[in-house]
Amino acid sequence: MHISSLQLTNFRNYEKEKIEFSPHTNVIYGDNAQGKTNILEAVYIFSQGRSQRAKTDRELIRFGSDFARLGLEFHDNERDYKAIFQLIKNGKKNIKINGVQITRLSKLMNYLNVVMFSPEDLDLVKGSPGARRRFIDSSVSQLYPGYLTSLIDYHKALGQKSSLLKTLRAKGVKSDTMLSVWNEQLAAEAEKIIKYRTEFIKLIDDYSAKIQSEISKEMLKISYAPGTKCDAWDKDTIYRYFEKNQRREIEFATAQVGVQRDDLTISVNGKEARLYASQGQQRTAALSMKIAQADYIENTKNEYPVLLLDDIMSELDAHRRGYLSERIRGRQVLITSTDTDLKYSTDNTKLIHIKNGAVI
Ligand SMILES: Nc1ncnc2c1ncn2[C@@H]1O[C@H](COP(=O)(O)OP(=O)(O)OP(=O)(O)O)[C@@H](O)[C@H]1O
Ligand SMILES: [Mg+2]
Repeated sequence: MHISSLQLTNFRNYEKEKIEFSPHTNVIYGDNAQGKTNILEAVYIFSQGRSQRAKTDRELIRFGSDFARLGLEFHDNERDYKAIFQLIKNGKKNIKINGVQITRLSKLMNYLNVVMFSPEDLDLVKGSPGARRRFIDSSVSQLYPGYLTSLIDYHKALGQKSSLLKTLRAKGVKSDTMLSVWNEQLAAEAEKIIKYRTEFIKLIDDYSAKIQSEISKEMLKISYAPGTKCDAWDKDTIYRYFEKNQRREIEFATAQVGVQRDDLTISVNGKEARLYASQGQQRTAALSMKIAQADYIENTKNEYPVLLLDDIMSELDAHRRGYLSERIRGRQVLITSTDTDLKYSTDNTKLIHIKNGAVI
């Protein structure tokens, strides 16, 4: 899979620009705050329907404008695609692929596959469970629209259950039939979500263990730390487990069990990485997991995703940089850098110099 051109209109600090990409390595270089990451962000939006860093879509619109528009041409083994993303101030976002309006996020997800590497990847190891769930969710939903649909439905029901729990506690009630209705719906979605997650984690564990051992001869292990601690994950068992927790959940007035509490346990050489691994070991583990994410997409879909490397090469030592360069050889990659001493460029590399929201 690769992208060939990106058009930016009133997006971030770009007024109007068109950028053509090589199907191999593209190095986007320039000083700080010129608009390098903005380009990766624009590409990412076509994969996930939203920015990896913006809190609201509105931030994406150029200061002083009332709309932003992005155009992306991309290609997979089968077809060519022209996608448009449009954002109107105080309005809705609008995404079209080959002229067809995309009405649901789950419909967008499996067109363009990307994997973004950034210094924040360290959060996978060091950060909160939410960072690890986002890693799972963005990987699986790129390939399985049904997963995202279940996740959205689950969170809708969870929102309803949470407000009910607050009401019940305020009333001093100990159990409730409406709560059971939500638990039944949640259990049905949880069964599907857990099935996807456990399959994904098994693969990512295999791939990343191999990668980690190639980089550093260390043993990396990734395992599922479920927020639904019952002995089987069929919907009836999950439902009974949720029901058993009614009293406790009303007492706390929040949902204490369920897939919203899922996490990953990451260990290096048998010790939990979050607590015991060195900074370098944590960084390697995060890198291994991200390369594994790309391998997962390739092996499942038969398409290698577009890789977006934001400021990551400068964070890696020569050995890790060498390993990564070797692993991504022949793939399409967009690398941002402030470095003009481009150690990782090859004959196939396209250099794109960005200054103040323009290609020069
Ligand atoms: N909505 C917006 N309208 C106009 N300019 C914006 C908007 N949002 C961000 N910017 C500007 O975009 C620039 C940042 O762009 P970007 O994050 O791509 O920089 P960068 O080249 O990646 O820099 P660094 O090397 O520091 O990471 C900043 O100057 C910021 O003020
Ligand atoms: Mg940047």
